[in-house]
Amino acid sequence: MSMRKIGVLTSGGDSPGMNAAVMSVARSAALYGIPLIGVKRGYNGLLRKSSNLKDDLQELTMELVLDIADEPGTYLRTARCLEFKEKKVQEKALKTLKNMQIDGLVVIGGDGSFRGAQALCNLGFPCIGIPGTIDNDLPYTEISLGYDTAVNVCVEAIRKIRACSRSHDRPAVVEVMGRHCGDIALTAAVSTGSEIVVCPEVPWTVEGVALQLRNQLDRGNTRATIVVAEGCWEAMAPFDLYSFLTSHGKPCYPEEPMSAVRFASVMKRMCGMVEARANVIGYVQRGAEPTARDSAFAFEAGNLAVRLLRDGISNQVIGMQKGQVMYMPIEKALKVQKKFNKELFDLVNSL
Ligand code: ADP
Ligand code: F6P
Repeated sequence: MSMRKIGVLTSGGDSPGMNAAVMSVARSAALYGIPLIGVKRGYNGLLRKSSNLKDDLQELTMELVLDIADEPGTYLRTARCLEFKEKKVQEKALKTLKNMQIDGLVVIGGDGSFRGAQALCNLGFPCIGIPGTIDNDLPYTEISLGYDTAVNVCVEAIRKIRACSRSHDRPAVVEVMGRHCGDIALTAAVSTGSEIVVCPEVPWTVEGVALQLRNQLDRGNTRATIVVAEGCWEAMAPFDLYSFLTSHGKPCYPEEPMSAVRFASVMKRMCGMVEARANVIGYVQRGAEPTARDSAFAFEAGNLAVRLLRDGISNQVIGMQKGQVMYMPIEKALKVQKKFNKELFDLVNSL
């Protein structure tokens, strides 16, 4: 069956390169003579929640997408639409797609978004996924839109933080994103020569990291950087933050959770430093302009997604393996197990 129209949506956390992928989808659809509909706010747009049709589903003209290609963020907007896990909600989305004469959908997002695409495929609707997440938690592919950009943002930030640390002879704690995946932290740490990295994949203790920092101080390094992945707190052995801080004269709420700021405070006291600063890099990792690597992948992936739908191939996700853009079944891709680079992690922490 030829495609009357194709839809495209972005879902989950926004990631640099999403707009570039939409631009490529639009140019490819135009080349093959297929009208393109942009679905707004992830799967929400398919549920027709807005009073105005254009707020949910918008025809994407060439002029519009050419303007957004290099922009950070996602023009289509994104959202987490938790009810999309329910079959009756998926069926409602299917109805919208049918009413709009959309015959195929390109879903740009992470593993959750891919599960949504898989659900639609199981209802007989053709979908293709493009990996879009800064976290690098899709192990079937060597690249996902935004990861390279996020790492580069962290490297730039950490270099600046290390310049201040050097000027003041102060260590720093830097928290980066990645949800349950420590790849951004590890790659940023190794790329900046940071002395300590803490990741959710490796159980750790506060006392152990303090010992590492003390060893750095003893070797004459007064400005070590501790890069922590945001998910690392879940892998931390129990630590009585309240007792530790209050016994060192620092106010603290009972049951207060560990955070980068609190962790820097603890490190400073355990290691007898005058100061240790915490920096949380946050949204600048997601809201940055895509690097050349992310943009180039977006360009190829967007075109491949449209070609696959045009050729009647569906239920696939696009990725990169051995430097080549490829595709494979969604189900198979979601089963690939992540391997954490423990050797590199140990190397960073040992030097
Ligand atoms: P990511 O795609 O980055 O992993 P999320 O895990 O937040 O981000 O998922 C994005 C969206 O994908 C969810 O808000 C929901 O709309 C959809 N989704 C997630 N899991 C499922 C599922 N099991 N079935 C159907 N849709 C899902
Ligand atoms: O999945 C991308 C990501 O930025 C994660 O690294 C982070 O844990 C999460 O999204 C934060 O989501 P939000 O800012 O939308 O709450």
